[in-house]
Amino acid sequence: MRAWELGDRRDGAITLRRVERADLKPGPGQVVMKVHATGLGARDVNIMKTPWTGDKLKPWQNPPPPDRIPLQDSAGEVLALGEGVTGVALGERVIATHYPKFIDGAWDFETMALDDFGDCFDGFLADQALVPAGALVRIPDYLSWEQASTLQSSGLTPWRGLVDEARTRAGETVLCLGTGNVSVFGVQIARMLGAKVIVTSSDDGKLARLMAMGAHAGINYVTHPDWHQEVMALTAGRGADVILNTIGLAELERCLLACASNARVLYVGARPVAGATAGAINLAQLPNLVARCVSIKGYTVGSLRMFEDFLRACDTHRLQPCIDRVFGFDDVLEAVKYYQTGAKLGKVVIRVSASG
Ligand SMILES: NC(=O)c1ccc[n+]([C@@H]2O[C@H](COP(=O)([O-])OP(=O)(O)OC[C@H]3O[C@@H](n4cnc5c(N)ncnc54)[C@H](OP(=O)(O)O)[C@@H]3O)[C@@H](O)[C@H]2O)c1
Repeated sequence: MRAWELGDRRDGAITLRRVERADLKPGPGQVVMKVHATGLGARDVNIMKTPWTGDKLKPWQNPPPPDRIPLQDSAGEVLALGEGVTGVALGERVIATHYPKFIDGAWDFETMALDDFGDCFDGFLADQALVPAGALVRIPDYLSWEQASTLQSSGLTPWRGLVDEARTRAGETVLCLGTGNVSVFGVQIARMLGAKVIVTSSDDGKLARLMAMGAHAGINYVTHPDWHQEVMALTAGRGADVILNTIGLAELERCLLACASNARVLYVGARPVAGATAGAINLAQLPNLVARCVSIKGYTVGSLRMFEDFLRACDTHRLQPCIDRVFGFDDVLEAVKYYQTGAKLGKVVIRVSASG
């Protein structure tokens, strides 16, 4: 099989290398997935740049070793079944969930976090991947391989936040920060839920495109550094009910200033995204947190059950994932370079199989 490995990273350089490996054989309870498409996210590029130190691998404290195959997103078909596998058939179109042990119920960091693809396990930047059969969800028929490959992290993360955590109601105002992968899906899902949507960006062209996709209002956070005041103006002084903070601490303080009473702030940007400065929250804003009964919810990508719910909603609403560009398997280095320019709006996808 063909694959890319992380390589021996030093000094934040991208050192991906093309390799040939023996075809995979499934163990008990596993399947081999023939990967058709995968894609890039902020986390993946972060992992690619993090120098390899030789330390023992710990969840969320990569770096993974040089021979790790990166990328967590996948769309592919079942190529081989291991002993004892039931409930999934050869040729089925599937996506693997990020945390194979997070099936339903409450998240448990100690037992679930060490199993993620593209970090602790080999990921999907390869022709083939080994996946526990219980970690697969079926792809709705209307989606191409490329579209399906965008959903697992960038789509499921805002779905969990807006649906399972914030319990967004029709008519509420949802604010999405920036136009990164998670935020763009956040806009689409919030519209699906009947919310009024405000989005921020450094780029007026991106704001115009998000408004064409259904956002009700856009705010340029560069020309309006105190963008929370614009949110207040757009909501007649009420504030946003749900805020999808994909940026992290750098924008948390302004999020608190943009909150309506009983607002829910969804906090998913564990590491600062490119372009955002690390920051500290001004504790003077905490009274606002209490007075307005605001909750801040940190969470990771959703469970398999949440993913199934999300895919059913995608199917019903024929949600069209926003893809910026599709690169070929040989053009991965170019794809990563393009991702890092920040020009994209939507997912940067890698077509793995020749037929796509
Ligand atoms: N918790 C989870 O399970 C989970 C899952 C997925 C991702 N994440 C995290 O979520 C974050 C976003 O991931 P992503 O893949 O969506 O990233 P991405 O596509 O690389 O997004 C980058 C975007 O962030 C925006 N940005 C940068 N600074 C900003 C600021 N000060 N205010 C508003 N927007 C700003 C920019 O938007 P403009 O170009 O419009 O200015 C930029 O395009 C990352 O930290 C990632 O690790 C967490």
